[in-house]
Amino acid sequence: MKQITEHIRHRRSVRTFDGRELNEKDKSSLCSFMETIENPYKIPVEFKLMSAKDNGLVCPVVSGTDLYVGGKIKCVPGANVAFGYSFEMLVLYAQSLGIGTVWLGGTMNRPVFEKTMELAADEMMPCASPLGYCGKKMSFREGMMRKAIKADERLPFEELFFDGTFNTPLTKERAGKLLGALEMVRLAPSAVNKQPWRVVVADNTVHFYLKRSKGYSHEGKLDMQKIDMGIALCHFALTSQENNLDITFVQDDPKLVSNAEVEYIASYRVE
Ligand SMILES: Cc1cc2nc3c(=O)[nH]c(=O)nc-3n(C[C@H](O)[C@H](O)[C@H](O)COP(=O)(O)O)c2cc1C
Repeated sequence: MKQITEHIRHRRSVRTFDGRELNEKDKSSLCSFMETIENPYKIPVEFKLMSAKDNGLVCPVVSGTDLYVGGKIKCVPGANVAFGYSFEMLVLYAQSLGIGTVWLGGTMNRPVFEKTMELAADEMMPCASPLGYCGKKMSFREGMMRKAIKADERLPFEELFFDGTFNTPLTKERAGKLLGALEMVRLAPSAVNKQPWRVVVADNTVHFYLKRSKGYSHEGKLDMQKIDMGIALCHFALTSQENNLDITFVQDDPKLVSNAEVEYIASYRVE
């Protein structure tokens, strides 16, 4: 995928589509790409295209398209983060083709989506997305929703990224060659725009932590904020690769924190 930063910068959630069906070329490019998607956890994600009309899929915030894509994954350790990484690969590829998407984890008739995905007993469908071409004017409902969750805003750089320890905010100057990739992490989508990612750069390694949002709990196997972490890892990895940084995925908690305010997820070593 070329010019990843451009696709990340231009992506926004699309909930209002223009009613046109995906053309065959775009659909087949998307389907071919789905087959190639991998994540650093090496847990496969299986994607499926679904018609809303044929399957009774309902998502009240979405209008102007009948087509959805869902993803399913085995419920194993790391599955939520892995899913976030893989599904975001698809979202960004769709963006590169001019196809609009929005991550959906809550505002849909989930049991019907899950049935349509034909989940096995050991599988889950964390999220889905509509697919189509962006409508000219956002629906009133979508506009209200964006305003309510401040969807166009992101936390300041210094509140997300840290230098050596959580006590020292990372300045853009000190970020050096990592600046581009970290800026793309900051632009990532997240559930209810909560932006739970926190990053500590220490000894040429970029450590990703989850800071759970207050009042935003998770039940059972589905964990939207871990999915957010996978999206952040994806933005970091794709941008670093485009910037010719030599990065290696590692899961080795550096034990930088002694409290339970943040949870270690994974790291990228930068050579
Ligand atoms: C894991 C996840 C789940 C989401 N679930 C929903 C959802 O159920 N309904 C919805 O309208 N938007 C959903 N979103 C979209 C977010 O609200 C959106 O990404 C965020 O507000 C930032 O806006 P942007 O994507 O336009 O940058 C979800 C996003 C993520 C990453």
